[in-house]
Amino acid sequence: MCGIVGYTGSNPALIVLLEGLERLEYRGYDSAGVALIENGKLHVDKKVGKIRELVKSLWGKDLKATAGIGHTRWATHGEVCELNAHPHTDGEGNFAVVHNGIIENYRELREELERTGIDYRSKTDTEAIVHLIALNYRGDLLEAVINTLKRLRGAYAFAVITTKEPNRIIAVRYGSPLVVGIGKGENFLASDIPALLPFTRDVIPLKDGEVVDLRPDGVFIYDFGGNMLTKEVMHVPWDIISAEKGGFKHFMLKEIFEQPRTLGDTIRGYISRDLNLPFSLKDFRRILIVACGTSYHAGLLGKYWIEKYVRAPVEVAYASEVRYSDMPVGEGDLVLAISQSGETADTRFSSLALKEKGATLLSVVNVMGSALDRESDYTLYTHAGPEIGVAATKTFTAQLAVLYALAVSEAEEKYARMEELLKVPHLVEEVLSRSEVMRGIALRHANNRDFLYLGRYLSYPVALEGALKLKEISYIHAEGYPAGEMKHGPIALIDEKMPTVAIVPKDRVYEKMLSNIEEVLARRGKVIGVGFEGDENLKGLCGDFIGVPEVEEDLTPFLTIIPLQLFAYYIADYLGLDVDQPRNLAKTVTVE
Ligand code: AGP
Repeated sequence: MCGIVGYTGSNPALIVLLEGLERLEYRGYDSAGVALIENGKLHVDKKVGKIRELVKSLWGKDLKATAGIGHTRWATHGEVCELNAHPHTDGEGNFAVVHNGIIENYRELREELERTGIDYRSKTDTEAIVHLIALNYRGDLLEAVINTLKRLRGAYAFAVITTKEPNRIIAVRYGSPLVVGIGKGENFLASDIPALLPFTRDVIPLKDGEVVDLRPDGVFIYDFGGNMLTKEVMHVPWDIISAEKGGFKHFMLKEIFEQPRTLGDTIRGYISRDLNLPFSLKDFRRILIVACGTSYHAGLLGKYWIEKYVRAPVEVAYASEVRYSDMPVGEGDLVLAISQSGETADTRFSSLALKEKGATLLSVVNVMGSALDRESDYTLYTHAGPEIGVAATKTFTAQLAVLYALAVSEAEEKYARMEELLKVPHLVEEVLSRSEVMRGIALRHANNRDFLYLGRYLSYPVALEGALKLKEISYIHAEGYPAGEMKHGPIALIDEKMPTVAIVPKDRVYEKMLSNIEEVLARRGKVIGVGFEGDENLKGLCGDFIGVPEVEEDLTPFLTIIPLQLFAYYIADYLGLDVDQPRNLAKTVTVE
């Protein structure tokens, strides 16, 4: 949902901005741009396409500016073109703004500004911000920004520079993420922490309603009323290596192969420290899980485990649906919000609305210091490290580990359960050692245009997640479905051109799944089976088969999802697609 960077110091700003933008490219990549204060004048460069297009256009330009801002765009208002790309400038060319999020009253502002004779150039909601700041400027950029904020409605983050105060950047957070990086004689700004890691590990994640005044020799943070705030600097434990590709062709592949380690880190974290929650899940009348996308699929699995071990009623809702529903939620309810980024607007805003109604808010997040982390009553972290590939992989299995640890935390057999969970990282490693088998299967099916993914009970969310992975990165239509529901409709789709991926571990619904596979075969459908190694019965039914080590029922999703992640990856790579940055998507969705 757009990435913002900023730098002010004594080094060439452009180098910092481009490096930061490359790390933020996963947030949006339809156009990119920078604005620098070069010899007292604003220098703006923007290009449609990825950051490399911008880099090419800057090639050979000897820009020495030591302050600037940059942007990578995921279009919301206005088509993808250079005019709509950021930074946006005022008519005089004295101010430049980069923005992430949405200004909801942009139409009204535009009409008003045009009535005063301002010549609008773009179709964006952003342009209003820069014109308002220029109009409000009376010699102090901070004051101009604070006065402008009174006119803006929506959820946003933006940064502004001006030729009139060349070393100063003012930036604002209100609903979209923004982090300040602290250096020596230089300071930084970015939409997320990994973009700052090449330069500093000392950061201040801004909260909604905060404005930062960034100068080379200091960082000053204010509320929207202009009152100065005291903030703590956080030292980030991640290092730059964990945000690099490490010899893999894509981040996604690296992240898939990291799962034995990330699962181990997450599980051991909870074994050594316990969950430290000052309540029992049994104290709540109801547990409501809210999440989006992959995190929602993790939530569906969490429901099964919590119901089994806590015996409490659990509902799972899409965050975007729950926010505007009349669901009766209040005191006595626990809202369990799941989000890798901790910045997803749907998840944050729905959770906050439910918290306001009196519910307790517990969240599972990967990014420490993210908005959801700070806004929750309690947080459980997944220790998966930065995930750069837009398609979530290692954070999904880390979420499963946290949810499982949470579900069994009050069970009598807690220690036995956690011991079983501890075996998972090694078993995942075994599955990964068969990646070449999965590659072969993927290549045989890479030219199909439709897939059905079937599973029952714990394998149903796995089917949904497998289908989502394929859709996201290969642009192939894939439907995840509960296998028992197939006969109520989707069975009509089955023919020799629509392969079925069936997830069939030996669990309580194994026999039922075999019958569902027979139903597919009877309609000339091809079946790719994922089951336990050595399951000759299943293997005999499936045209293609991949085995995972035998594991107890509860833990099957940790293993069966791995071949499906690989399947999607190998197909997308074979098709020559941009695996890490699939079209139309963004890693962190900070708009509703
Ligand atoms: C996952 O592959 C997707 N890119 C997407 O569905 C994602 O899971 C969703 O946007 C939620 O993100 P979050 O976990 O950061 O809240």
